[in-house]
Amino acid sequence: MSEYKIIDHEYDAIVVGAGGSGLRAAVGLSEAGLKTACISKVFPTRSHTAAAQGGISAALGNMGEDDWRWHMFDTVKGADWLGDQDAIEFLCKEAPQAVVELEKYGVPFSRTEEGKIYQRPFGGMTKNYGNGVVQRTCAAADRTGHAILHTLYGQALKKNTEFFIEYFALDLLMHNGKCHGILAWSLQDGTIHRFRANMTILATGGYGRAYFSATSAHTCTGDGGGMVLRAGLPMQDMEFVQFHPTGIYGAGCLITEGSRGEGGFLVNSEGERFMERYAPSAKDLASRDVVSRSMTIEINEGRGVGKNKDHIYLHLNHLDPKILHERLPGISESAKVFAGVDVTKEPIPVLPTVHYNMGGIPTNYHGEVLTKNDDGSEIIVEGLMSIGEAACVSVHGANRLGSNSLIDLVVFGKAAAIRTAQVVKPNSKHEKIPESETQKSLDRFDKMRNASGGTPTSVLRDQMQRTMQSKCAVFRTDKTLKEGLHEIQQPWEGLKDISVSDKSLVFNTDLVEALEFDNLIRQSMVTVSSAENRKESRGAHSREDYKDRDDQEWMKHTLAWHHDGKVDIKYRDVHSYTLTNDVQYFPPKARVY
Ligand code: FUM
Repeated sequence: MSEYKIIDHEYDAIVVGAGGSGLRAAVGLSEAGLKTACISKVFPTRSHTAAAQGGISAALGNMGEDDWRWHMFDTVKGADWLGDQDAIEFLCKEAPQAVVELEKYGVPFSRTEEGKIYQRPFGGMTKNYGNGVVQRTCAAADRTGHAILHTLYGQALKKNTEFFIEYFALDLLMHNGKCHGILAWSLQDGTIHRFRANMTILATGGYGRAYFSATSAHTCTGDGGGMVLRAGLPMQDMEFVQFHPTGIYGAGCLITEGSRGEGGFLVNSEGERFMERYAPSAKDLASRDVVSRSMTIEINEGRGVGKNKDHIYLHLNHLDPKILHERLPGISESAKVFAGVDVTKEPIPVLPTVHYNMGGIPTNYHGEVLTKNDDGSEIIVEGLMSIGEAACVSVHGANRLGSNSLIDLVVFGKAAAIRTAQVVKPNSKHEKIPESETQKSLDRFDKMRNASGGTPTSVLRDQMQRTMQSKCAVFRTDKTLKEGLHEIQQPWEGLKDISVSDKSLVFNTDLVEALEFDNLIRQSMVTVSSAENRKESRGAHSREDYKDRDDQEWMKHTLAWHHDGKVDIKYRDVHSYTLTNDVQYFPPKARVY
């Protein structure tokens, strides 16, 4: 068939990605007796979940009264009424049990004096439906993701999940609208592997690296999203890109929101705690979209700090050094290394930085991937699931609350495993699919490997990242977005002239970067198109030419397909119903922070 010899594998279920959601799913699948493989391009404990700092939300009530309904209300409101309330209800109800389960697995959470899991305040997390701050975010100092990731990897090994580490997933193997597994390339020895599976779960993370400055690891290239778009399936709500208020100025690394939860505050060049003006009640703990916009306005109006007045100060130097040492050791170190700042004495220079993709592969709350037929009917894509940042469930709607990401990973990772166990019988047969499906993917791989144009990937990536950073930013207008649509064509067209100089198959990072770029550019195009299309402001999508949220016209999810450089858009209804109809929330006319 070609010079590539294919090594075949058969599993009941495969998980692509070994971050928090992928590992939680793998643990559940293996526990259910399903033969499970986890395929990851990085060593599992190097997955981006390791970078999650501040914590994981759950209404445990360890530090004062709390209720999952309050958590649900905050999440629905934080999502700016674009989240699906059935999925949000599921998330918030399941959250306490999911955290206790992590504790039992061995996650070394920080503790209260009485030995309970320590919980800190986080942006947008309130008690009694917006009446005061609640301590809901469970923390392992400021290394919560790291602690969860290591624990889940240990559990997956214990439960006999089989790992394929440093394997790069190339494409989904689709036939007649059903997913039958993936094709992957082993970076270690250059071999090509076909994984046949009765369920394929994409847990490949976000695509933060479409932007120039991001808190995301360089590996966050949305590989699952790229595969889904190439398979002719849509992505959902891609216009909603979250900027975290406190990336270190110049370096982009994350300074956890937990630092404001512990009492830190933002200050402009006039020494003013300006968040008191923008969000009189929540102040520095308003939701991230609100804080990022306020900081950007301060800078744009000339009240930024530093020589170029282009950033903001985050003060922690009034806090007890013992607290900083115990609860924020990681960011104290990052501030020293990346900004040269001793947090006990000086403020940290910070700037809103791309942090999270609310959009992703559309799924229901079981993790099953959804698409629409030509006649507009919604269907489940058989054999395919997605979880974690790769997916859009959608619990975060237009804006995610801090610490709702880690809980999303474990709740929906577990849910996907439970659903798979309901629909896949252990050791059931694998349907034969035509070789042409494998060949299509191999041809693409081979073409990229032998690309001998005149433009290195780094040049195309730079064009894409700078366009996304400047034209699809915190504030957007018709003009910037139209310019973005035009400019993003350049790196896309540039793919035809890409050059990959290393032709080898073993640890060929040149080729990896080219394949990652292919994934990123498709998602970038879908993001700018979806943003240009949505004529309102909602959550992280803030348009200066359409300043208000328009529930009449726009309370709907965007679905976007990428067909050879063209983006087609359709819509899905937002689920304003819940699973039990216990609770349901409706948007107020005006936004109050
Ligand atoms: O600020 C943080 O620690 C980030 C948390 C999150 O994105 O959930």
